[in-house]
Amino acid sequence: MTEWWKSGVVYQVYPRSFQDTTGNGVGDIQGIIQRLDYLAWLGVDAVWVSPFYPSPMADFGYDISNHCDIHPLFGTLADLDELIVQAHAKNLKIILDYVPNHTSDEHPWFIESKSSRKSPKRDWYIWHDAKPDGSPPNNWVSYFGGESSWEWHEETQQYYLHSFLKKQPDVNWRNPDARKAMLDIIRFWYARGVDGIRVDATIVSMKDANFKDDPLNPEWCEGEDPFYRVLHVHSENVPEIHDYNRWLRETNDEFEDRLLIGETYLNTADLVSYYGQEDEFHLPYNFQLITTPWEATAVKSLVDSYDAALPDFAWPSWALGNHDRHRVATRVGAAQAKVAMMLLLTLRGTSTIYYGDELGMENVPIAPEQEVDPWGILSPGLGLGRDPERTPMQWDNSPNGGFCASDVSPWLPLSANFTLENVATQKERPNAILNLTRTLLQLRKDHNALGLGSYLPLDAQGNVFAYGRKHGTEVCVIVLNMGAQDTEWRWEGLTAPFKVLLSTCGDSGSLHPDFLRLRPHEGIILINQ
Ligand code: GLC
Repeated sequence: MTEWWKSGVVYQVYPRSFQDTTGNGVGDIQGIIQRLDYLAWLGVDAVWVSPFYPSPMADFGYDISNHCDIHPLFGTLADLDELIVQAHAKNLKIILDYVPNHTSDEHPWFIESKSSRKSPKRDWYIWHDAKPDGSPPNNWVSYFGGESSWEWHEETQQYYLHSFLKKQPDVNWRNPDARKAMLDIIRFWYARGVDGIRVDATIVSMKDANFKDDPLNPEWCEGEDPFYRVLHVHSENVPEIHDYNRWLRETNDEFEDRLLIGETYLNTADLVSYYGQEDEFHLPYNFQLITTPWEATAVKSLVDSYDAALPDFAWPSWALGNHDRHRVATRVGAAQAKVAMMLLLTLRGTSTIYYGDELGMENVPIAPEQEVDPWGILSPGLGLGRDPERTPMQWDNSPNGGFCASDVSPWLPLSANFTLENVATQKERPNAILNLTRTLLQLRKDHNALGLGSYLPLDAQGNVFAYGRKHGTEVCVIVLNMGAQDTEWRWEGLTAPFKVLLSTCGDSGSLHPDFLRLRPHEGIILINQ
């Protein structure tokens, strides 16, 4: 049996921004339930929901104070149960965000841990004495501003480690009781019927046992993200991370048919190691399409080398965006957004669509006084704030875009173009990116070459990236013009009878006996006949 997720596509919902049903300008679980018909219509297979747990919201829910409940902003456990039942009835899987590297400092475990050096939960977090001069134990720095990742606790005269905000103390995964308590959270949700988890901040969850200093990064320049002042060789991606990956997988596999996805910002060689011997992640995310220059040779070299490096059993995983990275349509340009979507949905592997990317949603400029994301606030002027890619979903052209009632202020502003670019108006425009996305999702289901086929590298030509997908006798060839120029693409194999299955321009393309003419920003899928 082929696992459902291999040909499947995941859709990421950032719940604050998807659909408000309670009139507070923040999306909620009932809102997701209301929009399940849309997701089924679109044709995705699974919905990954970013955190909705009780949280002081220092990091918008990634700072959890109770992993086994729901924040009242988002609803109740009964709402979540209903989401699971209703999603399953529509053949959609539900994937939760699991945040095991840290808790909120308001989590009862941390409150207990910091109460005394003798607390039974002291070792559930990472505490360390100061150096003799009172300074932090080593030079590790935290994400979101690049300050020391150690925070002094006056009452008990020790530092605690936080890889992110100081309100997000890191859990000590080497402590067996803490580990069991964290793994029990997976069991709690799986017993409720959840189909998989996306594991947050995977690569930082184990660190060097001896707390060695990270080496300085010789390439870092003033004005860049201060987090990269050091090379994170001892604070991230240490050899013991593979023990951690296996603990997660063992727990995952106590339940039938559950999917384990990792948030893994890694290069190809390291990424491949996160599959283990089929005993670590099913899908360690490959985020390199987000970081690679948008240019045919660079993207081809990334895809070819990744495909070649994967062990036979391993299935690729792709994303073009998420709640932490600027919108793909802004990165590659609105005119390229359809080509990017065609790439995402025709590469071999399980792909994830970030909500709104199917509409070509772009970054929304956020004025400094409107900024709420801690990363942006702690790193002024570096463009690292994540609010621009977290703005409300654009459903229709009513005030507030159908995201929330007209007399309510949404938690972040809507894009200025929402009256033109929204689900309702794009549905009426056959050539809109929404309809292209839906067609691509349908083609993956109709053609095994696209859903499950092997990847066939083809020669690069100019700024055209072309590759094949093959399953049995079915062959598809995907030809993507990643530039703004008209171009011709020649391929000997075209003498075989191919026809155009889909063009991003919405017509039947321009296929000649031995070449294909591509318009600016055009992507074409060919199929053998
Ligand atoms: C992950 C999340 C990000 C969050 C961080 C800390 O990178 O994707 O949104 O801020 O972890 O939990």
